[in-house]
Amino acid sequence: MSDKLIIFDTTLRDGEQSPGASMNKDEKLRIARQLERLKVDVIEAGFAASSNGDFEAVQSIAGAIKDSTICSLSRANDRDISRAAEALKGANSARIHTFIATSALHMEKKLRMTPEEVFEQARLSVRFARNLVADVEFSPEDGYRSDVDFLCRVLEAVIKEGATTINVPDTVGYAIPELYGNFIKTLRERVPNSDKAVWSVHCHNDLGMAVANSLAGVKIGGARQVECTINGLGERAGNCSLEEIVMAVKTRRDYFGLDLNIDAKHILAASRMVSQTTGFVVQPNKAVVGANAFAHASGIHQDGVLKARDTYEIMRAEDVGWTTNKIILGKLSGRNAFKQRLQELGVQMESEADINSAFARFKELADRKSEIFDEDILALVSDEGVTHDHEQYRFVSLSQHSETGERPQASIVFTLDGKEVKSSSDGNGPVDASLKAIEAQVHSGAEMVLYSVNAISGSTESQGEVTVRLQNSGRVVNGVGADPDIIVASAKAYLSALNKLQSKADSVAAQG
Ligand code: KIV
Ligand code: ZN
Repeated sequence: MSDKLIIFDTTLRDGEQSPGASMNKDEKLRIARQLERLKVDVIEAGFAASSNGDFEAVQSIAGAIKDSTICSLSRANDRDISRAAEALKGANSARIHTFIATSALHMEKKLRMTPEEVFEQARLSVRFARNLVADVEFSPEDGYRSDVDFLCRVLEAVIKEGATTINVPDTVGYAIPELYGNFIKTLRERVPNSDKAVWSVHCHNDLGMAVANSLAGVKIGGARQVECTINGLGERAGNCSLEEIVMAVKTRRDYFGLDLNIDAKHILAASRMVSQTTGFVVQPNKAVVGANAFAHASGIHQDGVLKARDTYEIMRAEDVGWTTNKIILGKLSGRNAFKQRLQELGVQMESEADINSAFARFKELADRKSEIFDEDILALVSDEGVTHDHEQYRFVSLSQHSETGERPQASIVFTLDGKEVKSSSDGNGPVDASLKAIEAQVHSGAEMVLYSVNAISGSTESQGEVTVRLQNSGRVVNGVGADPDIIVASAKAYLSALNKLQSKADSVAAQG
């Protein structure tokens, strides 16, 4: 048995299934590049047959990423599998991940199929997929709640047909660590050809145990692949979190005895990129990537850490991408220093033109803010990446007036297809007035389903980062804007969301 643990990231597929987290092709490609930098072994890039948007995203990621295996999900039918294979054509290393539900509940109520029909479909689908690619993963959906005898028969059959990875999902997050670990162990012991496949765990977090269950699947069950997402993004309570799995296995190598490919210093940048793109804020006390994950507030802890850091720290903050030297650049910093800092932060820009444009924005910001933190830079480049492609609207300037006892007024100038338009409105508050002023010109008819403001670097001198989530005709998009003035940040976020609504990219989340 290999002593390497394969990290399979499904942020772009299962993570995206979380309501409001849908991403467009450019955003997915940026995140895929960050996952490649992180040295993730397998990137599940989407569900090619679910929509044209997903097909194109899988295709463009397959063409661009060289070091990770690129995977597409597909239901267990020939059409889905062919679509997945087509989208994956350009990949250096391609995997098809096919699934069908095997629990009595799902077979009877959802699929309306008999167990024998499911058995045959699973077998034939894996056979079909193996004729198209050499690397085929099979998942029995709701596997953990399936009858163990039936599951063993199905898994034996699909391995015979050539499945190279067997993934056992706890689809509804019902498992308990010891029980899930033993379940994987039993399957591996009872399936006669189990040694012909890599065993994988895929846990949801409904009872808050996705990471614990996955680790038990590895330790007790002998699984050698974990399926996970950045920040634990995913439907309902989310999926198993990549950063927690990685740091648990690295920090407790004495217990797990497993090696990982992962380059952990890119974890924080990946976490921020996913959070900024989806608008899903990371809670401050989130392990590894939360703002407080390495902060010591109590005097006793601070004293201990100053004397010997391992008194209270089991991991080094810098090993996952936190920097010790927080104040990094100012208005006198040059382009080279800026470019070098981007590299240190793991941010790779597509072209010199992108760097120039980000640098110009950095200079603009440095004129207004004396200390520029890593967080500011990451927000600035994230803004850059999400707006420049399908940009119909662009922020130009804003003025607003608010005074106690008076209704706030705002006037905004923005470009619409390159032409400047000016619009004014009043509102309940200055943000409301500004966004109403935009709507007075645009008439998008979109419904706002989320508005959130976050101080990027913790003080009132900080930039505010605003996320706006808009919904229109069944599409949900997120816009993010950052600025020291939160009203400007709100207007930028709103325009960014409108740009995405306008873009033709189909971003319907995938679901089997
Ligand atoms: O949770 C689940 O069952 C899934 C499968 C499609 C692998 O995401
Ligand atoms: Zn899942």
